Amino acid sequence: MLTGLEIDQVIDGFTDAAAVTTLCSDEADRVPVARCSSAAVGCCCAGLAAGTGPADSLQAEQFGSATVPGVTVVVITGERGLRTSDPRTGPPRGRHDLQEDEMTQVRDDQTGADEVRMIDRGADPERFARGWHLIGLARDFRDGKPHQVNAFGGKMVVWEDTKGNLNVIDSYCRHMGGDLSQGTIKGDEIACPFHDWRWGGDGRCKDIPYAKRVPMRARTQRFPTLVRNGALFVWNDPEGGEPEDYIPELEGYGSDEWTDWSWNSTTIEGSNCREIVDNVVDMAHFFYIHLNQPLHFRNVFEGHVATQEMSFKPRADMAGQDYVNFGEESVTESTASYYGPSYMINRLVSDEGLEVVLINCHYPIRPDAFVLQYGVMVKKLPGMTDEQARELADQYGEGTMETFEQDVVIWRNKTRIDNPLLSEEDGPVYQLRRWYEQFYVDRADITEDMTARFEFDVDVTKANAHWDAEVAENLARRETSATGGAR
Ligand code: FES
Ligand SMILES: [Fe+2]
Repeated sequence: MLTGLEIDQVIDGFTDAAAVTTLCSDEADRVPVARCSSAAVGCCCAGLAAGTGPADSLQAEQFGSATVPGVTVVVITGERGLRTSDPRTGPPRGRHDLQEDEMTQVRDDQTGADEVRMIDRGADPERFARGWHLIGLARDFRDGKPHQVNAFGGKMVVWEDTKGNLNVIDSYCRHMGGDLSQGTIKGDEIACPFHDWRWGGDGRCKDIPYAKRVPMRARTQRFPTLVRNGALFVWNDPEGGEPEDYIPELEGYGSDEWTDWSWNSTTIEGSNCREIVDNVVDMAHFFYIHLNQPLHFRNVFEGHVATQEMSFKPRADMAGQDYVNFGEESVTESTASYYGPSYMINRLVSDEGLEVVLINCHYPIRPDAFVLQYGVMVKKLPGMTDEQARELADQYGEGTMETFEQDVVIWRNKTRIDNPLLSEEDGPVYQLRRWYEQFYVDRADITEDMTARFEFDVDVTKANAHWDAEVAENLARRETSATGGAR
């Protein structure tokens, strides 16, 4: 299925933009309702949505927001054959508007203007995403000490009370600004190291041992918490709203069949956390950065969830350099879903039967820094001892660390870019960012195009033909140089 951006990515690929014909139809009967010049692509769909019928007469300037419920868009090109909706996905219910960036992109390409594409860096958002953020494994906070967590532009203190609850409040004491994470746990409260004021997990000051009474307004910011799948989450909400319930319970976690987490954490300075979320749609980087060749790649966004489905095989020319793969010949099926803005569950199953769950999550420290955390649990294979399974999880965890470091090198050196220039194979980057935007706006400002179901299959045919050839060439070159060296 093709919707807004996809159309312009398709158009993007044409040298002869005028050869593009767009047909809009309903799913049952693909009757063309508009034949447009490329300049009007998008208009026809906007016209259709608005009930104005075929849009031959609409001008490019009439691009704009439009939703096309139940409409299938088919783009036929003179040069590249037919693109149709995927029958498995049903009629699109996703957004169908073109933002200004994309309109510019389309216009630029259509006019063939010999203009230099300028990068719009934009700016890191000033607010932090609304939602659950995993800040660490619950077990790591249960050591009788207060823990400092730098997040959301501030500092939090985490401690366990006598009932086993994990509490999270702002670490700066409302008395004279002392740092509660440097204090001590006394009973159920955290005691400030400066004057011993006692703060409860509900954010209220419970006692000032040297004072006759506690001031009436002695209340600080508390963060709602959730312990799920062995991890501690905090709810961040610039509007102060109630937490939502969308973090799923992981089947198998805590059972004898699976290992516990092999867990790692790293701090990324100089990047906004959008960089890692972009990976959801970035098919091609898996080959170049992670040394895996995607054989199938698909995205589905809906509500709070953004999913990437992929099967991949390791690059044969990079054997031994990629620790993440199950085996050099194996094909892995991967399903990775963000639940909210920062918590991804990635299920990986190899064709050899090994099952792994990888958690990929982060929380922002500042707009330009975040903590990336990832954990691995492995399903024990028949005959595998607990020790062997744990070693496998640790090994896989190490491989995952290598994988993220490959991304980190890119992030450290790249620029933020709000107007990426995309090829057809680059996936729905703009749609993903619109999905992600829902967590950065007030609830009242969430629009349907941020949450409506959206599905997209990346056509990997050309990519794989090229990659197979590249890998074969590299292997042949290596063979030749090895033979040459032996002589
Ligand atoms: S600053 Fe915390 S008790 Fe005084
Ligand atoms: Fe990546």
